[in-house]
Amino acid sequence: MYEITEKIELSHGVYQYKVRAPQIAKKRKAGQFIILRMNEAGERIPLTIVGSDEETVTIIFQEVGKSTNILGSLGVGDHILDVVGPLGMPTHIENFGTAVCIGGGIGTAPVLPIAEALKAAGNTVHSIIGARTKDLLILEKEMEAASDKLYITTDDGSYGHHGFVTQILQKFIDDGCAPDFVLGVGPVPMMRAVAEVSRPHKILTMVSLNPIMVDGTGMCGACRVTIDGEIKFVCVDGPEFDGHLVDFGELINRNRSYLKEEKMAVEELTYHEGEKCYERSPS
Ligand code: NAD
Ligand code: FES
Repeated sequence: MYEITEKIELSHGVYQYKVRAPQIAKKRKAGQFIILRMNEAGERIPLTIVGSDEETVTIIFQEVGKSTNILGSLGVGDHILDVVGPLGMPTHIENFGTAVCIGGGIGTAPVLPIAEALKAAGNTVHSIIGARTKDLLILEKEMEAASDKLYITTDDGSYGHHGFVTQILQKFIDDGCAPDFVLGVGPVPMMRAVAEVSRPHKILTMVSLNPIMVDGTGMCGACRVTIDGEIKFVCVDGPEFDGHLVDFGELINRNRSYLKEEKMAVEELTYHEGEKCYERSPS
């Protein structure tokens, strides 16, 4: 059992937890993730390891479905049944020169440890983080500390630049300041858009893919993606891939496979106010 030692609400329905898992904390590298399960029958949730200390790993998640809602109902001192990791390949870190790290919404969480590692490797790091509106922006201070310069965008113009994160990247390039390396993490349409901005300039652009995962060991095939015409499994071959080679259309279609079931599970989930339990409402 893995104890939750800290819980912070970063924005509405977005939580940062520290979970006691010393063995994972000692081994993990930037870009790796864990899979956790709250109970025997529970769904397995893959989450990037955002940071660690001697004892704990930090994860950030958004309540979007039944399992993440149950996870969000836990508090400090509660326990998670299983935590497996660190999983996936660590990010390839080197001194590229100038790196632009782009986080879209909750996708900013996986960007933070990579921006920190790129900075530690001697890169000049410019980061761009965006959200639909100011209240949904996360990790501003942390990203500022990890970057030489931080740019902020909101879709509604309530904070920072009014527009998408990709517009700032396009401006860098238009101004003759094309970076040597780009990292983009966020919703799939954003990652596709980032790759399309950098493609004509042949800038190495890595994206962190978020397909449906089950076992996390390369056995079940749930996280299958196509990269440059070849089948890859995100849990063991990724999660990061060259954005210019990803079949984003296939990823979007595969991620939609269980939308109906996910919606039904959330609708059936009802909370007993003030209690840390849940039940299905009568059908
Ligand atoms: P969102 O939809 O609010 O978008 C966040 C930002 O991304 C926007 O503010 C905008 O700047 C940019 N963006 C979105 N669509 C764009 C487009 N078509 N072109 C250019 N820029 C665009 O983000 P959210 O609701 O916080 O994101 C949730 C999504 O992020 C989920 O789909 C989740 O699965 C995904 N996610 C991905 C990872 C990953 O590892 N790739 C990790 C966490 C979350
Ligand atoms: Fe099963 Fe990757 S999650 S193969």
